[in-house]
Amino acid sequence: MNILVIGSGGREHALIKSFKKSATSKNIFVLPGNDGMADDATLVDIPQNNSEKIVSFCKSEKINFVFIGPEDPLVNGLSDALRENDILCVGPSKTAAQLEGSKIFAKNFMNQANIPTAKSYVVTTVENTVDKAQFFSAPYILKADGLAAGKGVFICKTIDELKSAATDLFVHKKLGAAGDSALLEENLPGKELSFLILTNGKNYEALPLAQDHKRLLNNDLGPNTGGMGTVAPMKISDTLHQKIVDQIIKPSVSQIQNQNLLFRGILFVGIMVVDDQPYALEYNTRFGDPETQVILPLIENDTCELFFDLSKGILNPIQKNNLHAVCIVNAAEGYPDHPVKNTPIFFNSEIKNHLLFAAVKKTNDCLVTNGGRVLNVVATAANQTEALEKIYILNQKIEFSNRQYRSDIGLKIF
Ligand code: AMP
Ligand code: GLY
Repeated sequence: MNILVIGSGGREHALIKSFKKSATSKNIFVLPGNDGMADDATLVDIPQNNSEKIVSFCKSEKINFVFIGPEDPLVNGLSDALRENDILCVGPSKTAAQLEGSKIFAKNFMNQANIPTAKSYVVTTVENTVDKAQFFSAPYILKADGLAAGKGVFICKTIDELKSAATDLFVHKKLGAAGDSALLEENLPGKELSFLILTNGKNYEALPLAQDHKRLLNNDLGPNTGGMGTVAPMKISDTLHQKIVDQIIKPSVSQIQNQNLLFRGILFVGIMVVDDQPYALEYNTRFGDPETQVILPLIENDTCELFFDLSKGILNPIQKNNLHAVCIVNAAEGYPDHPVKNTPIFFNSEIKNHLLFAAVKKTNDCLVTNGGRVLNVVATAANQTEALEKIYILNQKIEFSNRQYRSDIGLKIF
């Protein structure tokens, strides 16, 4: 089987390694990928936003299915371009990807399906925002409507902070068109978890629950990041699990059907649990990064077959094993605001099987940093304690100047 993975991060490297284990995978290509993946897949030098060239490449290499990793190509309609050319792919249509690409689209979807979620107003001016804030109390949550690479949610402690965030969006256009409109939302103070499912738009299969660690520093301090580490499976009570399924997951899948959305892929629901009541915060229409890195090792299925079938609209039951997985993200100095590039990376080759490369490139035969979240270390074991013992030993076998990582991944129980 010939497979093309779109993307270049740790999530995509995890997918490639999982596909490599399959008896059916033959040639794995990654577009654009990164130099750290070159031993596991063939790098394709085509820009992610050039649908025409991607379609021609798929035809010439007889690609059986494409797996689209990140949100941008999904929101830009790559899956539609592929399907129009009879190329199978995992990923929702452009319209369905609006669940991630537009917070307003997602909120309307949730409200129509009676899914518990924060109350909100659509706002488009500073005056409008301040006016609607009277219906809520601090902190005020302002969310840019469009994609903003994790920088579109403002949690404002005072009206002045809210005014300044709204001014950045609507007057200074700091996020461009993504911030032309926004949601002003009720604050939901609680505990967060991510619930991911595979769906063909009719049925769904729940993936093992993973716990992300969003803040840069230990004890959930420091700025928000794309995620500094994950553990899976995450344990929650059966009652909470059932509430999430009945009140959020099943209604979401039914609403996909009601709105006639073409969805063959992953729906990732961000959930806030307030006093044992789950609320949907947001949807992503793709795998999480670094959630994927700990979810895939817990799936027994041949993932090539699982996702090839899903690209055809066939959803197979997911078989989970009894393993526990941990992932630590090693980030560059200066991440998240100004990651330092070109720092040489050293590691002991015996741990290569545990490494997933994200923001790296090769210079003079040496891997160097090339962005924020540089590489991931993943360990699996029969229980979480063993997996944690293993990961911190492995993580010591990597070296790059002023790398940042958390040493409390998996230590706090939800
Ligand atoms: P989102 O991209 O919508 O998941 O928002 C990013 C982060 O902002 C979430 O992971 C939460 O930590 C926080 N957040 C979003 N919406 C709310 C809300 N209504 N109440 C409290 N925190 C929120
Ligand atoms: N780890 C969160 C995300 O992928 O959006």
